[in-house]
Amino acid sequence: MSHPTDALPSFDRAARRARVFEEIGDGIAVFRAPPLAVHANDVEYRYRPDSNFFFLTGFGEPDAVAVLDGAADEERFVLFVPPRDPDRETWTGPRAGVDGAIERFGADAAYPIEQLQEKLAPRITNAGALYYHLGHDEAFNLRLMDMAKSAWAARPRTANDRPTSLIDSGPLVYEMRLRKSEAEIAWMRRAIEVSREAHLAAMQATAPGGAEFEIEALLEYTFRRRGASGWAYPSIVAGGANATVLHYIANEDALRDGELLLIDAGCEVGYYCADITRTFPIGRDFTPGQRRLYDVVLRAQEAACDAVRPGATVESVHDTALEILVDGLLGLGLLSDATVADALKSEEYKRFYMHRTSHWLGMDVHDVGAYNVAGAPRPLEPGMVLTVEPGLYFAPRLEGVPEEYAGVGIRIEDDVLVTDDGGEILTAGVPKRPDEILALRND
Ligand code: GLY
Ligand code: MN
Ligand code: MN
Repeated sequence: MSHPTDALPSFDRAARRARVFEEIGDGIAVFRAPPLAVHANDVEYRYRPDSNFFFLTGFGEPDAVAVLDGAADEERFVLFVPPRDPDRETWTGPRAGVDGAIERFGADAAYPIEQLQEKLAPRITNAGALYYHLGHDEAFNLRLMDMAKSAWAARPRTANDRPTSLIDSGPLVYEMRLRKSEAEIAWMRRAIEVSREAHLAAMQATAPGGAEFEIEALLEYTFRRRGASGWAYPSIVAGGANATVLHYIANEDALRDGELLLIDAGCEVGYYCADITRTFPIGRDFTPGQRRLYDVVLRAQEAACDAVRPGATVESVHDTALEILVDGLLGLGLLSDATVADALKSEEYKRFYMHRTSHWLGMDVHDVGAYNVAGAPRPLEPGMVLTVEPGLYFAPRLEGVPEEYAGVGIRIEDDVLVTDDGGEILTAGVPKRPDEILALRND
């Protein structure tokens, strides 16, 4: 069977590092691959590399550091890695070690991670600036800041006495990650294809009397069976009013006739993510009230997808969706404002639509990249990928909501690639029109 993770993406990572070197001049940039995360007691999670680190190095082992040293003549790309250790490797598998870091990952030099302090501190002393992103590995944040403090204290005696600066390294990588290459898009298509199959299987298997966790299991079985490394984010399988909890991941409830099921699930292949939401009846059809709301969300979602093109912005895509949602809510008598303009101003719609319409998608599900540039929304460019995911949510606790809408949550989410002249809906193979969904559900 062909296996999508036979080979992880092999990109020209040296070219990516060259772009970082261009930016940092005689500065030094430090990137961290965190250690394994603890699940409970001595049980750890399966490792998932840090996206920035992996983007630049392709090195997938935990507890490593990559240094791009613009002040060095020869050892410019340096990896600090877990050293070979036959005893440990018996338990956790082969390591590349320092030799592998040089031979397989193109480091100019490599050292055991234990030598970080001794080898890195002098480099920081000599560098024009230290580039580092304060990430989630708090222990390492503190360790590096402590190293920098000592290194900078020594500067007046050992190096030039220019003011030292600490600069966020994130944006050096974010701009590259935001604009996807053809090869990256190919990996995203693979993640989306596996996710499409999972959503179709889930649509076909859903029935009254089942349980959310059965559908969750089917989604994730499909991800793994097709060779994806697993979910890109915990799957949301939310029946009925659970769908009004935006990050509902318990997935423990029964599936009841007459309610809708919202599934927000996507997998990761080669460390590229899919992010797809569909909402459909658990039984044979929508109730009239559910269908009215669904049609509003679908209209907003389709118009927002159509609005994706070079020069548009995440903001303008959001506005397109929002106007249609608000118009629909007004038409259904769910807002007290007189006009769409009034309703947009009063923001009463936020009771039912409280999130944004889009986010970047890539190696991270909420991918990196600035949404605003120079104080204005950033124009979309070919190669960017964003989600389009409007919804309406009527939490049972809300007052003044007619019975037929109470406890209904609907979201429709596609992944859209900005092309030269518009947008390509990468997730178009997952049905969202009611007739298509019902045909699939009831055949
Ligand atoms: N699945 C997370 C999101 O839609 O943003
Ligand atoms: Mn999303
Ligand atoms: Mn989603």
